[in-house]
Amino acid sequence: MVVGVCGGIAAYKVVEVVSRLKKLGAEVHVIMTESAQEFVGELTFRTMSQNPVATDMFGTPARWEVEHVSLAQKADLFLVAPATANTLAKMAYGIADNMLLTTYLATRAPVLIAPAMNKNMYTHPVTVENMKKLSDGGCNFVRAGEGFLACGDVGIGRMAEPAEIVDAAVNLIACEKDLAGKRVLVTAGATQEAIDPVRFITNHSSGKMGVAIARAAKLRGAEVVLVHGKSSLPAPYGVEAVCVGSAQEMCDAVLSRAPKCDIIVKAAAVADYAPESVSTQTIKKSDADLSIALKRNPDILESLGKNKLAGQVLVGFCMETQDLLANAQKKLEKKNCDLMVANSLTEPGAGFGCDTNTVTILKKNGEKLTPENMSKEALAHIILSEAVKCK
Ligand code: CTP
Repeated sequence: MVVGVCGGIAAYKVVEVVSRLKKLGAEVHVIMTESAQEFVGELTFRTMSQNPVATDMFGTPARWEVEHVSLAQKADLFLVAPATANTLAKMAYGIADNMLLTTYLATRAPVLIAPAMNKNMYTHPVTVENMKKLSDGGCNFVRAGEGFLACGDVGIGRMAEPAEIVDAAVNLIACEKDLAGKRVLVTAGATQEAIDPVRFITNHSSGKMGVAIARAAKLRGAEVVLVHGKSSLPAPYGVEAVCVGSAQEMCDAVLSRAPKCDIIVKAAAVADYAPESVSTQTIKKSDADLSIALKRNPDILESLGKNKLAGQVLVGFCMETQDLLANAQKKLEKKNCDLMVANSLTEPGAGFGCDTNTVTILKKNGEKLTPENMSKEALAHIILSEAVKCK
């Protein structure tokens, strides 16, 4: 991966970008413009990347022959961060008067740009036009955010945070994009059924499995919506997140989006019952016992199964404490699913809150697949690969 650093105060944050990329196992080569070196020393990036830093076209080649061509060819991704208005303009017009710009012109790798500049420069029509030109030409952007700018202004122009830039980089190159053009809806986590303004009925689902599936689908190029319960983890980069409380809210969020989705994965643990009425005030204790009447919630997966569109793939999850496979098979049929992922609650390294999982995947055609215990991330890819085969 090649990281081109321009002259902006945000250059210091790119040190963290390089550090995070290294931790993910990437080989990183840094190119610095002359003005970038005014903000951060070449030694910092050399130490962090564990590679020589290219600073100009006529310096002594450290390891490579014709530097810019060599770097351009070896790149899987060319990241420009922080991208200044000056460099963006030169990139848009093919000006190649430094090492970063010649490498940009010579590479055929995907390009990711993280701009950073003063808000008036960022919103200037010329800069906007240059970014549009680059975007139309296939460059990808991690948009600048709003906040305090180094110049003292408050507004748009802050470089995206290092974690977001790295997520965007990984999303561009990590996986084969076999889900490009597909819409995937994933549900994750536990629903909450209110009893009164402070109490609710819920379950132990952490949402990790559903979030892993949403992340894997995004990495594979899908447009992803994650409908998640309140206690689940932050949504992965680039995924549209819809936070819901009750099963009824999840039902509304899912059924309104379902007709546009190619694959729907119902990993959420949905409450089957909700209090018949929700007290508007906190329930006060008395010496008598208390009973709460419960009413049935809608079965979201069953509705999806009844209204399944041609070519749509429906994946259910099933968590049981007994007769796992027999119950999973019944649910697969009753809810008209293509796959049912039977989740063991009794196996070590599986179930609520774990980072790993042990499952059996039951298919509509009667086949069963039992992957070994593995991380929820790895399992997410297996489930999606099976879903793709159902089409
Ligand atoms: N599900 C749903 N709506 C519900 C209940 C469950 O969409 N009201 C979905 C879950 O998201 C999961 C699948 O149905 O994908 C199976 O859920 P599970 O709780 O295992 O089974 P239930 O159908 O609720 O049956 P039971 O509680 O009797 O085991």
